[in-house]
Amino acid sequence: MVKPRHFITLNDLSADELRSIIQRAIELKKMRVDGIIHEPLKNKVLAMIFEKSSTRTRISFETGMTQFGGSALFLSPRDTQLGRGEPIADSARVISRMVDGIMLRTNNHETVTTFASNSKVPVINGLTDRFHPCQLLADLQTWFELRGDIKGKRVCWVGDGNNMCQSYMNAAKLLDFQLTIACPVGYEPEQALLSATASHVELFQDAKLAARDADLVVTDVWASMGQEEEQKVREQAFKEYQVNSALMSVAKPDALFMHCLPAHRGEEVSPEVLDGKQSVVWDEAENRLHAQKALLEFLME
Ligand code: CP
Ligand code: NVA
Repeated sequence: MVKPRHFITLNDLSADELRSIIQRAIELKKMRVDGIIHEPLKNKVLAMIFEKSSTRTRISFETGMTQFGGSALFLSPRDTQLGRGEPIADSARVISRMVDGIMLRTNNHETVTTFASNSKVPVINGLTDRFHPCQLLADLQTWFELRGDIKGKRVCWVGDGNNMCQSYMNAAKLLDFQLTIACPVGYEPEQALLSATASHVELFQDAKLAARDADLVVTDVWASMGQEEEQKVREQAFKEYQVNSALMSVAKPDALFMHCLPAHRGEEVSPEVLDGKQSVVWDEAENRLHAQKALLEFLME
């Protein structure tokens, strides 16, 4: 069996491949505005397995497959034998004999890697506890559209050293930008990843020091999916890490603000920043569609 290409983290792509997917996403967006029908995945099927909730990821993958002439299956563990304990490897063997690609959103990163090693078709990580690479495709597309290449720029991550933060760390190394991370003690990203990306990543506790002269400021929820019971403890731990006008004022005057959404106004971001002029969160959300179409074309055509 020829091993399929998977997209489990950004490191599954070379820098050139990542740049070409971003450029293709920009082209596909324009083709849609121009009303050009493009159906490279006619009759192809993407299975989508969601262990967690989703608005953007589900709708963008499903819509993208339809626009490409194919279709997508929404599968929740509740409705499949996965929820009744059928082994992940067996599920991967079976599902990948029937469909042309599989996207998973899972609690544990290892579920996606186990799935991929037993799949005959490309597997896409639609978010795990450790990484959310599809969101990075959209964030990078948004940056490239509005500002050009990101090489050499300063990006500041504020908040939890979570799946989004860790995906930014991979992106920094691949596309050669500087990432400053401001996070409270105890919520840092994984040590091994900090070591692997040390040339491009700097860790701070003080958000204002980290955000100084940033070209882009990014944050995410304080409690990710599955951490709901830690909400109160996290609100205390992260209270100095809100992205608000005071924090944005130390970044470059034309700095952009991004958030993968859903956002909590008044927690990790103030309403005036989320709904303000520097925020590009709605473009970022829309670009999930275009960026993932570029990814689907790259992996499945
Ligand atoms: N940003 C993101 O992945 O959103 P969903 O959880 O709605 O898919
Ligand atoms: N860090 C968040 C991202 C949601 C898109 C979570 O994992 O819930």
